Amino acid sequence: MRALGRKKAGLVLGAAACVAALGVLTGCDLQEDADLERGEQLFTQKCGSCHVLTAAGTNANIGPNLDYAFQEARAAGMDQDTVEGVVQQQIDNPRPAAPEDTDVYMPPDLVEGEDAEAVAAYVASVAGVPGIEAPRFVAAEFFATNCGGCHALEAAGTTGAIGPSLDEVLPGQSAAQISRSIVDPEAQISPGFPQGVMPNNYEQVLTPPQLRQLVQYLQQSAGGGGGGGAGAAGGGDG
Ligand code: HEC
Ligand code: HEC
Repeated sequence: MRALGRKKAGLVLGAAACVAALGVLTGCDLQEDADLERGEQLFTQKCGSCHVLTAAGTNANIGPNLDYAFQEARAAGMDQDTVEGVVQQQIDNPRPAAPEDTDVYMPPDLVEGEDAEAVAAYVASVAGVPGIEAPRFVAAEFFATNCGGCHALEAAGTTGAIGPSLDEVLPGQSAAQISRSIVDPEAQISPGFPQGVMPNNYEQVLTPPQLRQLVQYLQQSAGGGGGGGAGAAGGGDG
């Protein structure tokens, strides 16, 4: 039983599901209404640590590059709905990696239900699309989405308390220190906080320039301006 056989089976299944839906709906486009923005967010969180996808700005190489994976298929005429079916199939039922790579596999059930639909619809809308560009990286948005659930930072309006308040701990730290805390959270554990909670894959999720932008943003905004007067949100304490 080869992985390739499974791949073919997945493809056919995905297409068959579309055809079945056709009877009732105007097409297999139901999921095109799925929230693409949410799909992108979920992709960045759940998939970006393993896959390159230009449109999402992810650049990890543990799994296949999804732009390459679908470029040829698209060029050969595979339409967006079929790509969507293939992605959904892979999420629901990840193919085992090649037998010789037992340490490399895609975990099942990373996202489920509507979330899986949103991710599949999003990937299908961008993967391997000619001329697709990487998103403009906005450090404040990245922080709010990816870090703010665990860290308070007034400038970003986040109040997470699983990790230290960055307004409290970052002022006075160098860019190198902050950068290291982000890519290698285990290197030095903040006193009083749990080890192994902060994700340790940001070096894969972020490109080096993105990481620099994020660190710069944190340096400038933590503690309400970090002493550099970097134009943090003005005043406003009750
Ligand atoms: C832990 C790493 C990891 C994560 C996280 C991950 N994948 Fe994968 N993915 C892989 C690997 C490894 C393969 C190759 C499996 C194989 O060898 O058949 C793969 C294969 C795929 C494929 C098939 C590509 C092709 O060449 O046909 C798709 C599509 C895919 N992943 C989408 C996703 C999506 C969507 C997510 C998030 C919900 C995700 N992956 C999360 C590791 C990962
Ligand atoms: C799931 C929760 C979680 C997420 C998500 C998370 N962190 Fe953390 N972070 C922690 C915890 C817990 C600690 C303290 C333990 C440690 O040092 O590893 C920490 C520590 C840190 C530190 C070191 C603080 C100090 O004491 O100097 C920095 C800087 C940091 N995180 C930045 C970030 C950034 C930036 C992101 C997003 C890219 C992020 N964290 C995402 C939980 C999280």
